[in-house]
Amino acid sequence: MAVHYEHIKTCKQSGARLGKLHTPHGTIDTPVFMPVGTQATVKSMSPEEVKDLGAQIILSNTYHLFLRPGHELVKRAGGLHSFMNWDRAILTDSGGFQVFSLSEMRKITEEGVHFRSHLNGDKLFISPEIAMEIQNALGADIMMAFDECPPFPAEYDYIKASTERTTRWAERCLKSHARTQDQALFGIVQGGMHADLRKMSAQDLVSMDFPGYAIGGLSVGEPKDIMYRVLEDTVPFLPFEKPRYLMGVGSPDALLEGAIRGIDMFDCVLPTRIARNGTVMTSQGRLVVRNAKFTDDFGPLDPNCDCYTCQHYSRAYIRHLMKADEMFGVRLTTYHNLYFLVQLMNRVRQAISEDRLLDFRDEFFEQYGLNKE
Ligand code: GUN
Ligand code: ZN
Repeated sequence: MAVHYEHIKTCKQSGARLGKLHTPHGTIDTPVFMPVGTQATVKSMSPEEVKDLGAQIILSNTYHLFLRPGHELVKRAGGLHSFMNWDRAILTDSGGFQVFSLSEMRKITEEGVHFRSHLNGDKLFISPEIAMEIQNALGADIMMAFDECPPFPAEYDYIKASTERTTRWAERCLKSHARTQDQALFGIVQGGMHADLRKMSAQDLVSMDFPGYAIGGLSVGEPKDIMYRVLEDTVPFLPFEKPRYLMGVGSPDALLEGAIRGIDMFDCVLPTRIARNGTVMTSQGRLVVRNAKFTDDFGPLDPNCDCYTCQHYSRAYIRHLMKADEMFGVRLTTYHNLYFLVQLMNRVRQAISEDRLLDFRDEFFEQYGLNKE
C-alpha cells in the first residue's frame, strides 16, 4: 500500500483524531494543513523555505500542469518531486475542480469534460482515464479521483445526477490507475448540501475501497454552519482506519471545526493568496499590513509568532515593501501566513493529545476575535 493511516488517539473532549499518514516521501502528522503549490511551486517560496516553515506535504494541480508545461515534460524530468526539487510528500488534485472554476466553454458528458484552456483557448478534454494518466506521470504520493464539484446553489436533481456520475468516474479512475504500488488514489465524496446524497456518495465510494477519502464540494459559497453540518452528515459513513481530507478549506476556524469533526487533512490557497495583497493572519485575527496605521509600527506582524519574518522584520518595513510592490514583501507575508497555519495545526495536535481541543478552540477564538473568517 502506497499510503496508510495510523491512528494514534482520539481526543476525549472533541472526538478529533491524532494520527500519522505514512507515504513514500515521509510520515505526516495529522491533522495537517497542506500549502498549495498550484504550478509546481508554492508562490514566491523556495522548497527549502517551505520545508523550513514546517510543511510536511504540499498540493499541486493536475489541471495547471497538464496545460503547462505538460505532464509528459514533468515525467521526463523524473516526476514532480524531482522537477521542483521537493523531497517531501505531494498530493495532486485531479483537475475535476479547476476545470469547472477556470476553463471556458466546458461541456460535461459521461465520457469526460470538454473545455477550452484558460491560457490560450485550445480545445482540450479530460476524462477519468486522462486524469489518471496525467497524475501517474506527475507521480505524487496521493492523487485524487476525477470528480465534478457542483456549483452552489444547484437543483437537487442536478446534484444527484452529478454525484452519481462522479461515482461512476471514480470507478473508472480506480480501473485505470497504473501505479498502485507507490501512488495512493483517494475518492472524493460529493452530494452538495444534502445529507441523503452525501450518505449515498460516501457509501458507494467506500464500497470501492479507496485508501483514503476526500470531502469535496464544500467552501463553494455556502455559510460555514452548513459546511459543518455537511461534515457531520458525511464523516460517520467514512471508514475509521482511512485518512479523511477536506478539500479547499484553510481558514483557522474551519481547520479547528473540521478537526473536531474528524478531518485529518486540509488544503487551501487562502494563506498564500491573502499574503500577496498584504493580509496576514495573527493570533489576534487578520491584519492588513498595507494599512496606513502601520506606517510607524516597528513591531512584528504578530507579537506571538517566532517565524523568520516576525523575528527580523517590522510591520512598517513590510508595509513599505508592499506599497512599493517589492517582491520581498510578498515573500515575507507568505512565509508568515504558512507558518501561522502549520503552527496552528501543531497546537491542534498537541491539544488532541491532551484531550482538550474544545478548550483550545475556545481560547484561540477568544484571542482571534470576533473577526472569525
Ligand atoms: N478542491 C476544492 N473542492 C474540490 C472538489 O470538490 N473537488 C476537487 N477535485 N477539488 C476540490
Ligand atoms: Zn510570523
